[in-house]
Order: sequence, then C-alpha cells, then structure tokens
Amino acid sequence: MLGSVQAEIMRLKKEKDICILAHSYQGYDIVEVADFTGDSYQLSVEASKVSQKTIIMCGVRFMAETVKILSPEKKVILANPVAGCPMAEQMDREMITKVKEEYPDYTVVAYINTSAELKTVCDVCVTSSSAVDIVNKIDNKNILFIPDCNLGAYVAGKVEGKNIKLLDGGCPIHAAVTAQDVVNAKKRYPRALVLAHPECTPEVLERADFIGSTSQILDYVNSSDHDEFLIGTEVGVVEHLQYTNPTKKVLPLSRKLVCPDMRVTTLNDVLNSVKGTGGEEIILPEDIIRDAAKSIEQMIRLGS
Ligand code: 13P
Ligand code: SF4
Repeated sequence: MLGSVQAEIMRLKKEKDICILAHSYQGYDIVEVADFTGDSYQLSVEASKVSQKTIIMCGVRFMAETVKILSPEKKVILANPVAGCPMAEQMDREMITKVKEEYPDYTVVAYINTSAELKTVCDVCVTSSSAVDIVNKIDNKNILFIPDCNLGAYVAGKVEGKNIKLLDGGCPIHAAVTAQDVVNAKKRYPRALVLAHPECTPEVLERADFIGSTSQILDYVNSSDHDEFLIGTEVGVVEHLQYTNPTKKVLPLSRKLVCPDMRVTTLNDVLNSVKGTGGEEIILPEDIIRDAAKSIEQMIRLGS
C-alpha cells in the first residue's frame, strides 16, 4: 500500500502531467511512484518517448542532462541537485580534446556517465548494457573508450579486431570492491552466485558467475531457479530484488557498494519536485544540446 507522501506524489503528477523516471539504484519508495524504472540505456530510450511536458529524474545529474538533450522542449528536473556522479566529473571537454589530438584516427566512445559538455566532442555514447554491441558495430578498429577503464577493459575482452585505448577513469564505488571481498563473501555464502557490474575491476569480474548491467542483473535473478545471490553493484539493486524475490536470498557482494550520489535523493525530494518547490531544472546551452545529441542519438541508433 502506498504511504501518504507517495499518494500525494501520484495525485500531483497526474494533475500536472509529470513523468517520473527513476534509475534502478533508487530506493524502492521512489521506484513505486515512478512511471518508469530502468538502467541508463533504458532510461535514455524511454526519455525520448515520454509524452508529458515535465520529466523528473530520480538519479544523478548526467541522467537528467541526457533527458534534456533528448527532449530539449521539455522541462527536466533533477529531483536532488546534489546528486552527481564522480566518474562523470573525472574528464572534461578540454582534456579529451587534447587527447584526441594524439589519437586523431580514433573513434571516441563515451560511457553515458559523462557531462553534456564532454559528450559534444565524442562520437558515440554507450551504456554498460549496450557497450559491447555498439563497439562491435563501429567501422573504425581504433577506439578511444572513456572514462571507465574497467568497463572499457571488459568491452575489449568481448570484441574482436579492435584496438581499444583506455584512460585512467572509473566508478570509485564499483572499483573499490576487491578480489579478496569476493573470496570472503563466497566463504560465507558458498552456494551464492556472484553477479557483477562491468564497472568492477577485472580481478572481481573474473571471479563472477555473471557480468551484466543493472537491468541484466535484475533479469538474471528474476528468472533464475537458483535462490542465493551476491550482487556486485549498488545496493539499491539488492533492495529491489529483495522486494520482488522474497523467497530468494539476495545480499550485497560488499558493503562498499553504496553510492552516496544515488542514495541522496529522498521521497520528499520527489514530492518537492512535483510540487514545484524543489529539485533543479536542467538548463543547457542550445549548442551543447545540439552537439551532445549526436552521440546519444548514435547510441540509440546503433543499440537498437
Ligand atoms: P547502468 O545503469 O548502465 O547499469 O549503469 C550503472 C551506473 O553506474 C549508473 O550510474
Ligand atoms: Fe557514478 Fe558509480 Fe555512483 Fe553510478 S555508482 S552514479 S557510476 S559513482
């Protein structure tokens, strides 16, 4: 049953023609009031189809920027303005413009966890669920993959005939999990399957039973006959799976897998955003929207 804050959000979003999008790392109370929940790729595709004039993004800043780039005529609100992504802040347009001078014949593939401004100098975006497929479809064999070197290394191991140049970036939350953490968790729960996000290090991934994006991990547990899992991605995913699979044991692979930026958005932030008293409207210069859209649209074209 919905609580009173949730009921008020549902009433107001209907009255004001608002769509709420939530990343799968968000708390279950937020997921319950969202019109759509998914991983970064699913959210981007969904954002381009939304009919409502206002979209509230419960996730982090680059996700709200992606929505704005795909729907510039819409009002896009980031439910909690503090929610950033440390990985998206590691590299900027100036830095990558300089790197491109050293690698002029490389196609620049940007993980979607990048700023709108940086996307303007990239050729194509990818998400964790679409990266292997999209890199495979790129004609050029030379690929500069930014910013996540763990996802990039994972992609490099899955594609053939590509020369992939990586830079030193990545998600500090996933990268903090060690091979020893996996060994310790498996000692406690020897029957559990380890499911890991490709933002984890190669040492962790080689000990995993399954590697996939947020939604691929959710699908794996939902459709598996197995009943014990250690989840190697943000704990929000663990919470969802515990709700939807009450008979299965679903635990975090490590207590380090808590992303403060993903956890900072509260149900009250969503209420205030729907009321028009909270959140931050995403405003981007027209030229940034125009140039960044090319790499995101290319991702949707190649990914479908
Ligand atoms: P996906 O949604 O692509 O699985 O990525 C996870 C993530 O880190 C989002 O910030
Ligand atoms: Fe960024 Fe990592 Fe948090 Fe995702 S989990 S928002 S990549 S810091």
